[in-house]
Amino acid sequence: MNTNRLSKSLTAALNAQMTKEAEAAQIYLSYASWADRQGYSGIANFLFRHAQEERNHMMKILEYILKRGAEVSVTAISAPPENPTSVNNCFEKVFVHEVDNTTEVYKLVKMSFDEQDWATWNFMQWFVKEQTEEETLSMKLLDDIKIAGGENMGSSELYSMDRDLGKASGEVRAAQDVTAENP
Ligand SMILES: [Fe+2]
Ligand SMILES: [Fe+2]
Repeated sequence: MNTNRLSKSLTAALNAQMTKEAEAAQIYLSYASWADRQGYSGIANFLFRHAQEERNHMMKILEYILKRGAEVSVTAISAPPENPTSVNNCFEKVFVHEVDNTTEVYKLVKMSFDEQDWATWNFMQWFVKEQTEEETLSMKLLDDIKIAGGENMGSSELYSMDRDLGKASGEVRAAQDVTAENP
């Protein structure tokens, strides 16, 4: 008896998104390491925590594929892009990456809608909400940087930003504890 509740196309797309989340974790790890080497330990801390969040997203998709009785394919992941050239550039890269990821999430939402797979459609709403929050967060950081001078941000502004991001909440929710209300 076939108990697989995911179509071939959605299985492939969900596996691809799972890989994308793993790649996102690697990107945050590499930017975090770059920030730490520049001496920005607070920014590094923020980015390291974000890497962990992306890994949780990966696990969340992996668990969903298994729960629906379909096959998970763990594959190679591509290398992160070049290191940022400045703090401003770092958060610009973060923003662009998050927007790209939102586009991929939307494709999955549309696909599940077209296939009338309401379980997957419902599952993907969590990611829609999460992406909105991540975009808002990186927009806010870019606004702060802009006010502080953008590429010409002074050392005292960099100092405060690094200190504030180091103090941002350190709690990373485990994938299995995540809810639609508390992504
Ligand atoms: Fe993510
Ligand atoms: Fe993200």
